[in-house]
Amino acid sequence: MSRLTINGKTINAPVGATLVDAALQGGVVLPQDCCTGQCGTCRVDVISGAVDAAGTAERNSVLACQARLQGDAEIHFDPVPLVMKTGGIVTSVRDLAGEIVEVVVEVTKPVPYLPGQYVKVEFAGFPARDYSPTLTLDGLREINQLIFHIRRIDDGIVSAALGSGIVPGSKVKVRGPFGHAFLRQGEGRIVLISTGTGFAPSWSIAVAARLGQPYRPLVMIASARDPRNLYMRPALDWLTKQGVNDIVLTASGANPLPPARHGRATDFLPTLSPADTVFACGSPEMIEEVKRRALTAGAAFYANPFLPSSGELPLGMKIKRFFTGAPKKTSPVHAQLDALAAQIGNSKS
Ligand SMILES: Cc1cc2nc3c(=O)[nH]c(=O)nc-3n(C[C@H](O)[C@H](O)[C@H](O)COP(=O)(O)OP(=O)(O)OC[C@H]3O[C@@H](n4cnc5c(N)ncnc54)[C@H](O)[C@@H]3O)c2cc1C
Ligand code: FES
Repeated sequence: MSRLTINGKTINAPVGATLVDAALQGGVVLPQDCCTGQCGTCRVDVISGAVDAAGTAERNSVLACQARLQGDAEIHFDPVPLVMKTGGIVTSVRDLAGEIVEVVVEVTKPVPYLPGQYVKVEFAGFPARDYSPTLTLDGLREINQLIFHIRRIDDGIVSAALGSGIVPGSKVKVRGPFGHAFLRQGEGRIVLISTGTGFAPSWSIAVAARLGQPYRPLVMIASARDPRNLYMRPALDWLTKQGVNDIVLTASGANPLPPARHGRATDFLPTLSPADTVFACGSPEMIEEVKRRALTAGAAFYANPFLPSSGELPLGMKIKRFFTGAPKKTSPVHAQLDALAAQIGNSKS
């Protein structure tokens, strides 16, 4: 057994256990979601001691669901709101621009979350998906509302149903919050870089930072591949009125209308320093590039990667999609669907 100190509380814990399991055995629940090293929710700082990072080290932090205790150690995590469940109802589904839709959900119980965190949303009849609650493009939100910016993906099980199967009046279940890429108190410049609807958590952080920590300089880089998806223009006007001048709006796929520029988000990342705090939200490829540059510069780095879901489909939906004919897909979810269809097909013949 070794001694593991978590946020000042010391427990006995077995050598070789992951930090999540070791903490749990001592009655401490570390923030966590996927427990597979994907979501980053469980990232903790190692203050001292013997921890095998299992390849997840970033500066002095590790993923607690992967890293293993090798001896006595001390770790710290920033407190986050407790994970809760609530129900709700969709009150508005509104096209913002291009493929981007704003969805407003009125929840029965307010969901406390930190700017940048995400929640699991299950629209009735559809599988759960992760979405990042944010604000309207003029920076507003009621306490009992969750506002989402969602990109409609043509063959997306959930996003393609926005406005058809998911409409005002649809019931919703929400669980959360999760995630490690949230705004903390601090000094120094905040650099926000996003692709597509990665702007949702970015915008949530930007507004909270301007209102709560106005002394911190802020850089906002928002991008999309297709210029028609640059839905965030009104939000950037709000930031300009708040005195933020370092704003870049960019599209990589085609020339956008000025003042938006042509290029990838990372083309406009400023030179970083150890005083900076960088948040990268959206495409995993962009995040990898920003992470490399932030860590090389010694900047604090937080990532909010929009990884495709690999979750189970509700049974009703599997059956419905089998009989209505699901389009050809390549994701793990769709591989499961194909396997199920093959199974049913075999048992029929
Ligand atoms: C932490 C987190 C926060 C997120 N926040 C948001 C958010 O605020 N707004 C938002 O629009 N999305 C967000 N996402 C993505 C979201 O969870 C879904 O993956 C997305 O809406 C697609 O779901 P779907 O059911 O429509 O597509 P699926 O049926 O799951 O997938 C359809 C096809 O699209 C591909 N695909 C799925 N997701 C993506 C993606 N993000 N980029 C490119 N291709 C994809 C799949 O591989 C598949 O081929 C977030 C993801 C994570 C992990
Ligand atoms: S819980 Fe550890 S990475 Fe998701």
